[in-house]
Amino acid sequence: MTAAGHRWNSAADYDVLARRVQFRNAELVAGLHPRPAEPRAVYEIGCGTGALTEALVHRLPSADIDAVDVSADMLAVAEAKGWPARVRFAQGAFPDVATDRHYDAVFSNAALHWMHPRFADVFATMNALLVDGGLACVATAGRTAATDRFAEQSRAALARLTGLSEPDPFEARRLTVAAAEELAGAAGFEVRDAFVVERTASVPAEVRARWWVASGGPWTAAQVPAREAVDALRSVLGGGEVELVHASVFLRLRKGDHA
Ligand SMILES: C[S@@+](CC[C@H](N)C(=O)[O-])C[C@H]1O[C@@H](n2cnc3c(N)ncnc32)[C@H](O)[C@@H]1O
Repeated sequence: MTAAGHRWNSAADYDVLARRVQFRNAELVAGLHPRPAEPRAVYEIGCGTGALTEALVHRLPSADIDAVDVSADMLAVAEAKGWPARVRFAQGAFPDVATDRHYDAVFSNAALHWMHPRFADVFATMNALLVDGGLACVATAGRTAATDRFAEQSRAALARLTGLSEPDPFEARRLTVAAAEELAGAAGFEVRDAFVVERTASVPAEVRARWWVASGGPWTAAQVPAREAVDALRSVLGGGEVELVHASVFLRLRKGDHA
């Protein structure tokens, strides 16, 4: 568990479960930097199995990349993939990381929401890691009308099936664009770009159910065994393919000279 007490917890399955959504998000995050030839020193938060790290290696030809994750299991999967010498992996729980180094850019995909409720610390630490004029290019779980609707439908269906009616704790981790911009501004960033990418992806019900359980889902508090939870979710979701609503807030933030 992280300092925040909750995180993705299925390293072996991650690349299979996340490929359709997170790998595309990672490409988008890597593309947020407008001058990819410039960054020499890059810090990546919550690198997991290396989806974004790999995109950064391709997009940022001059960058040394320090990629940090709290999970030894996720790091082990990442490290086994083989990397150029300019990539270094380290275990650490953001934002409780100590480094004297300053970076030209900080990147992160699909990790900051696991640090809820410490968002103010997270944005302040990203800012502190950067040189003046440095950029933070990140995506984190987004909250939209569609994610609210999807969460309510899922909660109601699960309540009918199991009697468990607590809201999915994951929902509290989501940020609207406005909330994300406010956090960034309060940490001393100038917001250069902020937008939501919302999509519905069609995924097999089994994949959706396993992903949901692996990321905490509505089951953590009730401590339903994972296999039972997957079976119950599949019966809610139906067989075959299900529509998954996925939303991420993307931010390009600049550390101002004043900061
Ligand atoms: C959904 S995965 C995303 C992995 C990768 N960035 C990608 O794009 O596929 C979230 C990752 O954040 C990591 N994580 C969660 N809390 C963290 C923390 N406080 N510090 C560092 N990493 C953390 C998890 O271990 C996990 O590897």
